[in-house]
Amino acid sequence: MDNGIISEILELKDEKDAVILAHSYQPPEIQDIADHVGDSLQLSRTAASTRSSVIVFCGVRFMAETAHILSPEKTVLLPEPEAGCPLADCIEVPALRSMQDVYPDALTVLYVNSPADVKAESYACCTSANALEVVESVPSDEIIFAPDRNLGTFVSRKSDKTIHIWNGACRCHATADIQNIRAVMEEWSDAELLVHPETPPEVWELAHAVLGTGGMIKHVAESSSQRFIIGTEEGMAYRLKTLYPDREFRTGGNIYCVNMKKITLQKILDSLKKLEPAIELDTEIREKAYAAVARMTEITG
Ligand code: 13P
Repeated sequence: MDNGIISEILELKDEKDAVILAHSYQPPEIQDIADHVGDSLQLSRTAASTRSSVIVFCGVRFMAETAHILSPEKTVLLPEPEAGCPLADCIEVPALRSMQDVYPDALTVLYVNSPADVKAESYACCTSANALEVVESVPSDEIIFAPDRNLGTFVSRKSDKTIHIWNGACRCHATADIQNIRAVMEEWSDAELLVHPETPPEVWELAHAVLGTGGMIKHVAESSSQRFIIGTEEGMAYRLKTLYPDREFRTGGNIYCVNMKKITLQKILDSLKKLEPAIELDTEIREKAYAAVARMTEITG
């Protein structure tokens, strides 16, 4: 670990009145220097409530955009502008509008893993932590759920509403290696398997619980098990080991997000020095997207 660069980041962070937010999929050295490590929902809440004037967002673009939507008066830095999300990029405004034309009575619930201009066309956003709650709370029995088909299917199995599901997926979760999960389960037969709802239904069938990353943290706190196999991006195993050093964690499914790993200490330092690259959005899109994100926070606090 390069302590020189870490000291420089921490000094500059104070000087620039910045806070460092990191998603639990970030590499260990980034999680270690962050002020807050969390899931998409927690990080949105922190972005909305922080008093710092600069947010260094260590995650992928849609997360930094959500922070900017919630806190437009702050400078939101995404240290690597190419840290995108193929799931978010699989949906575009004209295609969503076409689906809305087919189902004119449906309200659109959009997973936050989506671009800002698509959020602007939606009724409410959700994360994996609150998708069912948001779907149940919106004032229509007919829903368009986009863009993740696995999360949409997960919600539709628990809801009586009519849900039209967009056919998108997270490349790394949707291709989780089931053979690998089974092999790890055989080696650790006493372990609980916790998987993310972006994995396919065949993976959920093997699991003890299907949870977003924040839900996994709570589940471990409440469980009496000693060992856990984690079916989500591998950074999450590091997060859990840090929080629960007396338990054992292994990843299952070989789920690795290249975009999450594009953020480096050097890029954080460079972005703090220059205060760029900063997220910028068209004002009208930002304001309309805010309405959808704010509905989510009104529903789930
Ligand atoms: P969480 O909301 O569970 O943190 O998931 C974020 C994500 O992007 C999963 O791929």
